[in-house]
Amino acid sequence: MQQGINPWASSQTVDVEKLFSDFGIEPISTATSGLPEVPSFMRRGIVVGHRDYGRIADAIRTGSPFNVMTGFMPSGHPHLGHLMVMKEVVWHVQHGGRGYIGVADREAHAVRGMSWTQCREYGREYLACLYALGYEGTTYYQSENTRLKDLAFEAATKINFSELQAIYGFTQDTALAHAMSVATQVGDILFPQLDCGPSPTVVPVGIDQDPHIRLTRDVAYKLRMFLVERRDGCISVRSKNAPEAAIEAVHRAFPGSKKYEGHVDIPGASCEAVEETVRAIEIEQGGFGFVLPSATYHTFMPGLQGGKMSSSVPESFISFWETEKDLKKKVMASLTGGRMTLEEQKKLGGEPEKCSVYLLNLFHMAPDDEELAEICRKCRAGEMMCGTCKKETFERTKEYLKDLREKMDETAHLVDG
Ligand code: TRP
Ligand code: SF4
Repeated sequence: MQQGINPWASSQTVDVEKLFSDFGIEPISTATSGLPEVPSFMRRGIVVGHRDYGRIADAIRTGSPFNVMTGFMPSGHPHLGHLMVMKEVVWHVQHGGRGYIGVADREAHAVRGMSWTQCREYGREYLACLYALGYEGTTYYQSENTRLKDLAFEAATKINFSELQAIYGFTQDTALAHAMSVATQVGDILFPQLDCGPSPTVVPVGIDQDPHIRLTRDVAYKLRMFLVERRDGCISVRSKNAPEAAIEAVHRAFPGSKKYEGHVDIPGASCEAVEETVRAIEIEQGGFGFVLPSATYHTFMPGLQGGKMSSSVPESFISFWETEKDLKKKVMASLTGGRMTLEEQKKLGGEPEKCSVYLLNLFHMAPDDEELAEICRKCRAGEMMCGTCKKETFERTKEYLKDLREKMDETAHLVDG
């Protein structure tokens, strides 16, 4: 299995540099210059990498259509560990993206053994959070979306067992339903283009989901009938597995083009224009014309005790519905980057980069850059002690959750709408 990325592993230690060099994820800084406004989750180093985000930045800047899609596995209550990806989705919707949210109940059922009823309940909680944050767009449960399931089946024609083994470490003992849930996620990621036609799609995910992104890009490529290339001063449209009628249609669409065995050459055309026409022809001919999906990769907010924020470890996470009492208890007991004694802390200062409380602020609770910088400075300078800092963070979190729950009440009608 490709080292360090198993989407279903309980602990997640991912070496970001290695991901970049081994798998071709690019640092996010290579794409942000194209954005009219760089969101805080990119400025603060939370979103660290991307694939093909340049075309999303272009779409945002020029106002051309694009999609933002992600999925949530309803295997437990949503918690603050899920908030980042929700905010990323909402940000993209607010910047022109068509929103798609899949509730991955097939995956939760197949991989985590959740009952369908449980999936439905947890799913509703995820949707409640998303709508409260301002989400607008399509939402669905995988198990209820027939077009999605048909697309997953089509995707599965391009996935074989040795790939599943190489990518995910699947063995002879892996349940077929687990493999089907992988195909379903591939379907999720391509679904917006089935729904709206070929268009760039960004999938904001944690780094652990990259195997799914790579697989989906591979499948999207394999499902294309044609490859459009610039060659010797003309545009060459090569058939990968196009029926003869489709090749003929390409030839007819471009007067002056020459048709050869397996390809059509078009002199004096622009690559983009040909791409677009060819995609339309693919769809007419029963294909999909998919644009390879883009992705952004964010790091994870650590749990309050260090390690992963996980719904199976109550002291590690903060629920969206945490009572004030529990919230206080959890924040006050959390692992910090403070020193052993007050004296040492005053002398050496704390270590915010190792502190779960600081990271909670960095991710969510100190949206104002100056405020965050001030927390960091006071911590490093030994001016602020952890007790005070935790109390202030508790207050901010309490207010944040209170506001969000009010919004949830206001938007509750959207959840089953
Ligand atoms: N596998 C994802 C998880 O474990 C959930 C998911 C399902 C997903 N479909 C998706 C994520 C499509 C991104 C895009 O959380
Ligand atoms: Fe963390 Fe705050 Fe303590 Fe610094 S002062 S280590 S940021 S809790």
